[in-house]
Amino acid sequence: MKIAIIGAGNVGSMVASRLVDASLSDVVLMDIIPGLAKGKALDISDARPILNSNVKIVGTDNFKDIQGADIVVITAGLARKPGMSRDDLLKKNAEILGDISEHVRKQCPLSIVTVVTNPLDVMSYLVMKKTGFEPRRVIGMAGVLDSARFINIASEKAGNITGDKIFMMGSHGDTMVAINRAGDLSETIFKESSDRAKNRGAEITSHLKTGSAYFAPSAAVFYMLKCIIKNEKKTVCASVYLQGEYGQNDIYMGVPVTLDSSGVREIVEIELTDEEKQAFAKSARQIRESIKKL
Ligand code: NAI
Ligand code: 2OP
Repeated sequence: MKIAIIGAGNVGSMVASRLVDASLSDVVLMDIIPGLAKGKALDISDARPILNSNVKIVGTDNFKDIQGADIVVITAGLARKPGMSRDDLLKKNAEILGDISEHVRKQCPLSIVTVVTNPLDVMSYLVMKKTGFEPRRVIGMAGVLDSARFINIASEKAGNITGDKIFMMGSHGDTMVAINRAGDLSETIFKESSDRAKNRGAEITSHLKTGSAYFAPSAAVFYMLKCIIKNEKKTVCASVYLQGEYGQNDIYMGVPVTLDSSGVREIVEIELTDEEKQAFAKSARQIRESIKKL
């Protein structure tokens, strides 16, 4: 198994490290900044004897080296700076991902692509269209992260909450939709926790000042890759191409999906309340506005 990670910044290099530390896959780490991926790959590989890792990692600034990758993770582009919305990144990252999609289409025509770059739902849509890959092979990472943030924050207030009871759907943006299926979670805790989770990316960025979150984001990517590589058929929230599901067409949005070695095995349609339906539709309108700007 070979995974190509394009973008050796904070998220990309942390995903690479998690994959190698866990011996999950050989990794090619790629970045346009000469030497950056190579240096980080050498550093990650030096941990292998300590952690008993038996996979390989190489770093490169040449797209030719991603050839034949089974999975491609796209973490290239600009990250959010304080005061910057995810949509501010739209234009620049669309150019970068348009170019990367061409390379992926040529070098890894059979790969499954996991998109991380923001604005996430729009970038996932763009990569699917530009590569021409079947939608099941292009998956955006956001729901695993946003749901984990929500669960983490709510658990601090209300004790342990299991992962499938509260989660985030919709966009990876201000209109993400919090879902509560934990019967005993109070409305106040639900509201406070979901509001804070929706704002968590910005909260972290305001402390870091020079970049955005990457520890939990890389853990979320790792979790999804493990589901795919090990054919686990787990249900997670991810941004995927909707063709009528949840009343939406020709759009990428966060919904529960089952992942397996083919990518998106199934889109799971859960029953939404009227309020949730309205919030989901609002989220869709926001994503469509951004798609129009492409
Ligand atoms: P970073 O700035 O640390 O790394 C980005 C890397 O991409 C840089 O090293 C840069 O040189 C590289 N790059 C730029 N253009 C490239 C190209 N054409 N080919 C190859 N590499 C290229 O940023 P970070 O923190 O790693 O975040 C990456 C992206 O992921 C950002 O857009 C960020 O907003 C997004 N993100 C999304 C999350 C999600 O939940 N979907 C969570 C965290 C970050
Ligand atoms: C986050 O939510 C920046 O989208 C990234 O942390």
